[in-house]
Amino acid sequence: MALSSNWRFLMLFAVIGFISGYVSAAAEASESKEFVVTLDHSNFTDFVAKQKFIVVEFYAPWCGHCKKLAPEYEKAASILSTADAPVVLAKVDANEEQNKVIASEYEIKGFPTLKILRYGGSVVQEYKGPRDAEGIVTYLQKQSGPASFEIKSPEDASSVVDSDKILVVGVFPEFSGEKFENFTTLAERLRADYDFGHTLDVKLLPRGDSSAAGPLVRLFKPFDELFADFQEFDVDALVKFVEETSIPTITLFNKDPKHHPFVIKFFNSPNAKAMLFLNFGTEQFDAFKSKYEEVAQLYKGKDLSFLMGDIEASQGAFQYFGIKEEQVPVIIIQTNDGQKYLKPNVEPDQIASWVKDFKDGNVQPYKKSEPIPEVNNEPVKVVVADSLQDMVFNSGKNVLLEFYAPWCGHCKSLAPILDEVAASFQNDADVLIAKIDATANDIPQDTFDVKGYPTLYFKSATGDLVQYDGDRTKTGIIDFINKNRATVAQQESRKEEL
Ligand SMILES: *[C@@H]1O[C@H](CO)[C@@H](O)[C@H](O)[C@H]1NC(C)=O
Ligand SMILES: *[C@@H]1O[C@H](CO)[C@@H](O)[C@H](O)[C@H]1NC(C)=O
Repeated sequence: MALSSNWRFLMLFAVIGFISGYVSAAAEASESKEFVVTLDHSNFTDFVAKQKFIVVEFYAPWCGHCKKLAPEYEKAASILSTADAPVVLAKVDANEEQNKVIASEYEIKGFPTLKILRYGGSVVQEYKGPRDAEGIVTYLQKQSGPASFEIKSPEDASSVVDSDKILVVGVFPEFSGEKFENFTTLAERLRADYDFGHTLDVKLLPRGDSSAAGPLVRLFKPFDELFADFQEFDVDALVKFVEETSIPTITLFNKDPKHHPFVIKFFNSPNAKAMLFLNFGTEQFDAFKSKYEEVAQLYKGKDLSFLMGDIEASQGAFQYFGIKEEQVPVIIIQTNDGQKYLKPNVEPDQIASWVKDFKDGNVQPYKKSEPIPEVNNEPVKVVVADSLQDMVFNSGKNVLLEFYAPWCGHCKSLAPILDEVAASFQNDADVLIAKIDATANDIPQDTFDVKGYPTLYFKSATGDLVQYDGDRTKTGIIDFINKNRATVAQQESRKEEL
């Protein structure tokens, strides 16, 4: 869990530019009549039950992105209310106490969250479209129409085979039968993420064998071999084919938004992740790319995915991994247990052998740490990743450890309180009050569950570890320490037991 939240964190950095691009679209003056339907706990279920297709925005009144979205959403609702196939847009104040039941039913974790509910709410789909009025309209018109588009002419085909996107086309001798039905199920299931088409005539399709006999599924993609065919029709096999085939051998990451859907897929994949960060403008770019591609080919289907990121777009990742520009070109592998492996100043010819060493278990994990401070004489002691073991786990002391972030306001308010707590234990050699900058040091995720800042943990001299969730007051913290601390005698007897 901690791991996946970390990935989300990194992804956030990766896509932040791209998201802020569309939410910053200029707000238009709202009209007097409201087209967005307001729903709450008293009428949500009944209203949704009557809709074949409805979009619901879960928002909170205080949320800035919600405020930016509101005029765009309203404008989209007004356009869609008069469309040939009208679409209803609704909103729920998920911050309202009585509406929280609905929000938790739909697993709302952030604001705004948009969901598409189909067939009276029996099918729930994530809204993955843009957030400007025009983009919302286009996306919803497509989502509310049929999941797959019939390709009847070469013009139809060239209008849907896009140079930036994945398109999945089913070729059938007739639009009936179990294989066609399974293809339709596939399209319904994955329509939020891919475009689908179906045709009776394989010759209309621009790539691939034009004499191939259907039924078959041809996936068009804007990278690598540009298309792939598949002839199994089990629904799960089809889903797997589409998901796997639509991942590029190397995912590129720079400021070009056409790569971003693939970057998101890369970070969502269950594989270990190799990331090569370099300056895309360097004259060695081609050498890196071709060597990296060879390696990626070699490990295809072996639980390792590959991304190449331009330093210009990767500042968030640099911060996350604690790497510096002078280490570029750098290759990093992050495994699913949260371990990181890193090779700074890598050269094209070293990539293959380093990845092989990693696979063979011959590379030591990398731990992000600030340097151990030479002077550490403030009342609250500074712990870094490299001194965590010695100062906290092996010191034999009762340790209160604060995980903080430099930018966190609550941490700043806590600082003078911790200073006072530390001062009151100054002459007590068995108690240590300490802090660690959790943004600059890797925290062992299997030991500490740090979801927000500040987080306080207490480790007693006998090794018991508990999270402190009492009042953040001087007396509250001191009482807690005194109640939970172990004495040296207890420590001795614990040793004997072991
Ligand atoms: C649902 O109830 C709220 C509060 O009573 C009201 O403002 C809203 O208009 C209602 N919505 C519908 C669709 O009836
Ligand atoms: C259709 O999908 C179902 C469920 O995945 C599967 O059991 C069935 O064999 C598939 N039909 C064909 C013709 O592949």
